[in-house]
Amino acid sequence: MKYCSDFVVADKVMLENNFFRLALKSKSKLPSIIPGQFVQVLTTENNGNNLRLPISINDICEKNNIIYLLIQIIGEGTRTLSRVEIGERVNMIYPLGNGFDIAGDKVLFVGGGVGIAPFLHLAKAYHNNGIKPDVLIGARTDKHLLLLDEFKPYAELHITTEDGSMGTKGFVTAHPIFNTKFDRIYSCGPTPMMKVVADKAKQHNIPCWVSLEERMACGIGACLCCVVMTNEGHKCTCTDGTVFNAADLTDF
Ligand SMILES: Cc1cc2nc3c(=O)[nH]c(=O)nc-3n(C[C@H](O)[C@H](O)[C@H](O)COP(=O)(O)OP(=O)(O)OC[C@H]3O[C@@H](n4cnc5c(N)ncnc54)[C@H](O)[C@@H]3O)c2cc1C
Ligand code: FES
Repeated sequence: MKYCSDFVVADKVMLENNFFRLALKSKSKLPSIIPGQFVQVLTTENNGNNLRLPISINDICEKNNIIYLLIQIIGEGTRTLSRVEIGERVNMIYPLGNGFDIAGDKVLFVGGGVGIAPFLHLAKAYHNNGIKPDVLIGARTDKHLLLLDEFKPYAELHITTEDGSMGTKGFVTAHPIFNTKFDRIYSCGPTPMMKVVADKAKQHNIPCWVSLEERMACGIGACLCCVVMTNEGHKCTCTDGTVFNAADLTDF
């Protein structure tokens, strides 16, 4: 079941490097939300094109009916959204997409840039099941690393930065953790990064799921602009994904 409703901005935190985090409070009880699902946000000024912005659900607070979003300012839509003030309303369609399965005892999440967004909610879900996932986060510099303190209680953190300012120096895909045996790997971030992660997983015979960030318009399977090719034919990223087994994607 999908919902379309107004949320009130309960908190807004501006972070470094054009990132910000919103806490959006619903007046009604939140439905069940699977980690990895996303929302379609309508910005207050409508960013001139009536398109909603697809944004991953970063975390939720069931008790207070709050959805958290971690957003990077890219263009007009995200810039407009960054200007909302506490107390203003934001309309969202939610929860969308299939989300990640909570399965396996030893799991690795690999996030690049803002691709770490859905993994906080996912790490908490695993933690609630008594499993502390390994979370590998890659960023350009230590200034681009986000929400480390939020992750720490729920995950075993591994860090790479391209300039070596924190963690292992280099690309996230060069981290030695890929030599460890995991039950499954989940990845979210730039497509070239996810392709390398999927390739490494394949080399070690580890099932790998990737969350695709195709360009979207409707977000509900109507416009077909987010179609990807799979072993079973064309599928919509917004409804059949965004999470796909990498082995099913012909382009991976
Ligand atoms: C499932 C999903 C989850 C996402 N989660 C996050 C997140 O948690 N945090 C975050 O910062 N960003 C996320 N993105 C990317 C985010 O949607 C884009 O950065 C944003 O739409 C850019 O809009 P803009 O108007 O600022 O920029 P513009 O480049 O001007 O975008 C114009 C329009 O193009 C579409 N568009 C542009 N870039 C993308 C993109 N990468 N993916 C899909 N549509 C796009 C949007 O409909 C947007 O309205 C996600 C994308 C997808 C598909
Ligand atoms: S965004 Fe319209 S079908 Fe997926």
